[in-house]
Order: sequence, then structure tokens, then C-alpha cells
Amino acid sequence: MADLDGKRILLGVTGGIAAYKSADLMRRLRDAGAEVRVVMTAGAQEFVRPLTFQAVSGNPVHTSLLDPDAEAAMGHIELARWADVVLIAPASADVLARLAHGLADDLLSTLCLATDAPVAVAPAMNRLMWAHPATQANVRTLTERQVAIFGPGAGDQACGETGDGRMLEPLDLVAALGGVLPRPLLAGRYVLLTAGPTREAIDPVRYISNRSSGRMGFALAAAAARCGARVTLVAGPVNQPTPAGVERVDVESAEAMHQAVMQRVAECDIFVACAAVADYRAATPAEAKIKKQADTMDIALVRNPDILADVAARPQPPFTVGFAAETHDMQEHAEDKRRRKGLDMIAANWVGRPGSGFEAEDNALEVTWEGGGLSLGPEPKTRLAVGLMECIAERFAGRDDKERA
Ligand code: C5P
Repeated sequence: MADLDGKRILLGVTGGIAAYKSADLMRRLRDAGAEVRVVMTAGAQEFVRPLTFQAVSGNPVHTSLLDPDAEAAMGHIELARWADVVLIAPASADVLARLAHGLADDLLSTLCLATDAPVAVAPAMNRLMWAHPATQANVRTLTERQVAIFGPGAGDQACGETGDGRMLEPLDLVAALGGVLPRPLLAGRYVLLTAGPTREAIDPVRYISNRSSGRMGFALAAAAARCGARVTLVAGPVNQPTPAGVERVDVESAEAMHQAVMQRVAECDIFVACAAVADYRAATPAEAKIKKQADTMDIALVRNPDILADVAARPQPPFTVGFAAETHDMQEHAEDKRRRKGLDMIAANWVGRPGSGFEAEDNALEVTWEGGGLSLGPEPKTRLAVGLMECIAERFAGRDDKERA
């Protein structure tokens, strides 16, 4: 886990009674060796005066987007670049909604759009506001965009109610923050990944494909970039935004994906095959749209190249990671696949169960390698991806050390 010594933390404080705890949080962050700058929203200033934070941090507090004096000292873009991490604590229901919708009408929301540092939020609000479907949908959107959500905890609330919605205690937030700071485990390395389904043409309008959303592969590519790697993601047709710092190569068919991977594989240190590649394609796709005639029709299929097996079989293969989606006897099938394809690591998950697999947001993985293994999740795919990429980086470093010895 990364420590906070020397890290630059932008602490966003929004309007909520828990704002009084943020002065203590700032002191704890400084005790951990971090440099802290504070941004307060107008709502936060109704609860605590900026002077309190200025006195504890020794730095001026930033409150306004359109104040020429403040912009002359350290403008919003400079602040956004300065931060190693942005922590919003407390995060009101309002700021979660505004971040989820990408608003930029005050200093804090603008900073969150302008930074490429990781963003974490510590929600604090009445339990019914937290449970409201609108807030929950906003939290899901933010989780999908890699925003870390710390808490909230359960207990007595300032409004006299009891339930979920309390901001986590300052020391818990300090500990959680260590987990979102980028760890440069893969600095100087090149990671190549595949993600999403492939599409195999039957005729100009129809195709064979599968239900892969690409979420896991995109989250893994983002995690690799956060670990400092150069990253290329070869993606089948999916509706996913390209993660920051990732080169994306869009392909349709398994053959095109194979070609895009083989063009780059000699250069890469790590190859992660996350794509759900169609095993078969139409032997001869029709050039014109096929008209319906008989009651039944046959389409002759031929096998697609196995991209992962071809990479692993190279004379000097990169560190190779495969996925296995299983409906039964998961571990035996996965381990068999790892050995058969000659992989360094395999990550297996259940498919066809509610709440996991292809289209779900959460997932769990059983990761195995020669002589070891690790269970990850269930948790959101974005967090799972960070855990898996760190595990890959550690195993890769072990192999690299052995080769050099
Ligand atoms: O053999 P199976 O399809 O179950 O193996 C799954 C693993 O192999 C996944 O990592 C997938 O990305 C990869 N694969 C591939 N090319 C194929 C089929 C699967 O890279 N044609």
C-alpha cells in the first residue's frame, strides 16, 4: 500500500455537518507527511470558516473559480495539475450528482474535470438521501469512472436518525487514501491487452458475437496506465470510453484482433487477453444480404485463431495472462487451460450467475499461477482490475528477477 509521505492532496470540503471533521482529517493527512491544499464549496463555508483550514494547513484556502486574485496566485488548472490525489470529504449528495454529470460551475467541480489524478469521495448525508435511487445511480456512475467511494459508515446521524450516511472517521480515510494513490509498479513497461467481444460477419448486415461488455478489459487497461505502464488496448466493438493514458486500437473480427496483437506483441512485456474472442467465424461470409427462403439454413463455421495461445507459444513470450469464464468446475477447468495454453497466469470467473460475469458491474476472480493463487472480490470491476493488475505486476517482477539472476 502506498504511503502518503510527500504526496500532494487536494482536499475538497462540501456542505455538510461533517465538514467540522475535515479540519482534523487535514491534520491527520499532514501528520502522515502529505502536503494538503483545501478547496471549499460555498455550502462548506456555511458550516466551517476557511480561516480554520488556513490556520491548520498554513496555506490559503481556495473558494472561488472566478476570483482574479486567487487565479493569479494558483489558478484552477495549476491546482488540478498539482494534485497527486483529490479527496472530497465530506462529499454531499449534491457534489456526487454534480460530479456524475460533469458540471463545472464552481472551483471544486471544475478541478475534478481538469485533473488526471485519482479522485476519492467520502459521502456524508442523511440515510434516505444516500439510499435514494438518484444518489445510488450517481455513485455507480462515479465508480465506473474509477472514482473511489470511501464509506459511508452507519450510525447516529446529526439529523437524529440512524443508518448509512456517516462520513468515515479521519484515520480510516487516511488509511483508505493510501490504496488509491498510483503505484508506479509498471513504470517503463509496455502492457498489451485485448478486450470486448469480436464480431464475425455472416453477411454485410449480420454477425456472430457474444455478450462481453469490455468493462473488465477497459478497467484493466486503466489500472495498468495508473501503474505507470505504456498501454495499448486492442478493443472489439464496445461502448466504453478510452481510459486516460491508453492507446486504443479498434477492431471487429477475431482475425483483425489477432493481427493487431501480433503486430505489437514483440515489443510488449505483459500481454493480458481479456477479450471474449468468437471461437468460430463464417467460412465464407456472403457478399450480399442473405434473403430468407427455406425454413432452416446452415452456416458453415471455421475455427478462429487462438490469439492467447499464439502469443504464449512465441519463442520469447511476454508475461501472458488469460481469462477463463466457466459455468462449472471453475478451478479445474481454469488450471487445465493455463497449462494447455502455456500461460503465466489465469484469472477465472463464473458466468451465467446473477451479479457476476459479462454484463455485471461487480465480479469475483480466482487467479492462479504455477504453485500459487489468489481470490479477488466480489467487488466492482474497476477495483478488481486494480487488484489483478498489482498481482500481475508483482508476479511479472518475480519472473523478471529470476531471468536476470
Ligand atoms: O479457450 P478459451 O476461449 O476458453 O480461453 C479464454 C482465454 O483465451 C481468454 O483469455 C481469451 O481472451 C483468450 N482467447 C484468445 N483467442 C481466442 C479464444 C480465446 O485470445 N480465439
